[in-house]
Amino acid sequence: MSQLKQLVGIEAAKYVTDGMTIGLGTGSTAYYFVAEIGRRVQEEGLSITAVTTSSVTSAQAKSLGIPLKSIDEVTSVDVTVDGADEVDSEFNGIKGGGGALLMEKVVATYTKHYIWIVDESKMVETLGAFKLPVEVVQYGAENLFRHFEAKGYVPSFRETNGKRFVTDMKNFIIDLDLKTIADPQALAEELDRTVGVVEHGLFNGFVNKVIVGSQDGVLTLDAPNK
Ligand code: A5P
Repeated sequence: MSQLKQLVGIEAAKYVTDGMTIGLGTGSTAYYFVAEIGRRVQEEGLSITAVTTSSVTSAQAKSLGIPLKSIDEVTSVDVTVDGADEVDSEFNGIKGGGGALLMEKVVATYTKHYIWIVDESKMVETLGAFKLPVEVVQYGAENLFRHFEAKGYVPSFRETNGKRFVTDMKNFIIDLDLKTIADPQALAEELDRTVGVVEHGLFNGFVNKVIVGSQDGVLTLDAPNK
């Protein structure tokens, strides 16, 4: 599996050229993209500036000597490469398994060409088998949890080492065990309207290209109408 992740990470790095501002995703697949960019900076003198989507990726990028800027020091990002937890046949996706969905969505919003790198297990017909991460402010989070419970969304607070997980932006994550999301647009609109929700892991209509790694090799899929 890590071989597939490396394969797609290296493939995605081919879209990066000198002079670009690029976005570095988060997670075990994006890790290999960041590693390849670091290698090219060091060995080939690739000249780029990067913005990152988490403190973890910032640390990796710094250790590789990749020049960094904050998202507010740039007005747009040429190419961002990130992982995803699920991608459906309409190119909607779920992200946030690593807890970085808010920063990831902010960077994606200012990105001209947005690429996901996944292994074939992430490609699904309908989203929802993966629990949908929802980033919520700490204030009132228990009430929001009860609200999701009453709606039948089967919520759970994200925890690490027995403690409630706190994101880089100092929020909690509530994962919704929805099993299947019949209408990702409608659910996204509902969550967007829910007070206390900072952001959710539904990335509908964001991605331009999905690079899929499988035992048979790498497949690059272009999203329609993008
Ligand atoms: C991070 O918050 C996530 O959005 C990741 O991009 C996503 O969970 C994919 O991660 P993996 O590549 O580790 O599966």
